[in-house]
Amino acid sequence: MDAIIFNQVKLTYTMKISKNMQNALNNQIILESNASNNYLAMASWCEITGYEGGSSFFYAQSNEERSHMIKIVHYLNNLGVPAVIPATKLPASSFKSLESILKIALNSEQTVTSAIHVMVEIAQKDKDYPTHAFLEWFVNEQVEEETKFETLIKKFELIGRDKIAINEIDKILAASVESSASNTK
Ligand SMILES: [Fe+2]
Ligand SMILES: [Fe+2]
Repeated sequence: MDAIIFNQVKLTYTMKISKNMQNALNNQIILESNASNNYLAMASWCEITGYEGGSSFFYAQSNEERSHMIKIVHYLNNLGVPAVIPATKLPASSFKSLESILKIALNSEQTVTSAIHVMVEIAQKDKDYPTHAFLEWFVNEQVEEETKFETLIKKFELIGRDKIAINEIDKILAASVESSASNTK
């Protein structure tokens, strides 16, 4: 049994996951929170720049990342381990282009994927089967996320980078939000 003081309340709990795993999950909360905030900044930039598709795509993406963060918050709290809610980091507010945003996004997803794989390794080492099972959803989600951004980035090679092409890609971004919304219905 371990006891910790959290908000003046003494919590006693059976250690179900290792300290290492707890730290990694709390760190993942930071990554998901930063991702949500960064995508929100991208959505806002798209909105003010006139990319309607990009804007709705990144607002939806920001919400998704927030829901990932909350999944981990619930997971830790349900184990009796207080989740640490991080401060928000100031995101970039200005971007070069729609293409550059998508590339930054892919890069950030790749970083998140690596962090998740490290957690899977910790769970395996700890023989922490519940956390291993919990992380499986994230592993699959990251495959989807990386594919999504890679496919969108390819559009610039396929369609082009002139104004008409970018407008077309902006429409593809709008359509991709609609199709993922209908997939969840
Ligand atoms: Fe995420
Ligand atoms: Fe993501």
